[in-house]
Amino acid sequence: MINGISTMADSLHVAIIMDGNGRWANERNLPRSAGHHAGIRSLRETVEVAVQRQIHTLTLYAFSSDNWQRPHSEVQALMRILAAQLPAQAAHCVRQNIRLSVIGRRDRLPAPVLQALIRAEARTIHGSALHLRLALDYSARDSLTRAAEHVGSNGNGDFMHALMRAYNADCPVPDVDLLIRTGGEQRLSDFLLWECAYAELYFTAEYWPDFNGMKLDEALAAFQKRQRRYGAVPVG
Ligand code: IPE
Ligand code: IPE
Ligand code: MG
Repeated sequence: MINGISTMADSLHVAIIMDGNGRWANERNLPRSAGHHAGIRSLRETVEVAVQRQIHTLTLYAFSSDNWQRPHSEVQALMRILAAQLPAQAAHCVRQNIRLSVIGRRDRLPAPVLQALIRAEARTIHGSALHLRLALDYSARDSLTRAAEHVGSNGNGDFMHALMRAYNADCPVPDVDLLIRTGGEQRLSDFLLWECAYAELYFTAEYWPDFNGMKLDEALAAFQKRQRRYGAVPVG
């Protein structure tokens, strides 16, 4: 037990839709970008606690393919934050033995973000304490469509590998066990639709900048109380 939460089975995959940055900023009469900046501390703390809880994979939704529709100034601010934070986060990952990888399309990312992510992945490739995945320019539907096209043309039937290739995953990961969404909305917003087939869903009202290690522990405690049945009848 650590902090009242028993450490998790080493295959646990937690995914988080980090939502609510804009509203957090609006409520403080700040620009939306201030909310995105404030979310960095939540991200760091969440990653730290994920390592302590021995979570195997943590996938964080940082920028969806639909987020390109936002005002240019907000997209630019987000891309600047990513280009600046990826090297800092990679350095932290190296120290903590964390593997950092990025899933999603790469062909539309600004060059500084692309360079920073390639370098971050290379620097952390041997990390084994946690596999931290950032979803950038990610769309589950787009990935599924491209995987289906690929499998169809090849006829090899290996859909999982085609899906991995479609969103640039560098290795297979277990399906999502626990999906957390902050910010009060109760929807998936095109995140990991295939991998969440039997995920336990946890929605919390806090905006992402107010999320922290304690809130992650609350989500994990709720998850531990869930009975997962996978369509079968529970034994006993
Ligand atoms: C999530 O916060 C961050 C991104 C989508 C990049 P939002 O920016 O969606 O914040 P809200 O939902 O408008 O409050
Ligand atoms: C989902 O949040 C994407 C990320 C958190 C990166 P959005 O704020 O874009 O989702 P919607 O628009 O509320 O569905
Ligand atoms: Mg939002």
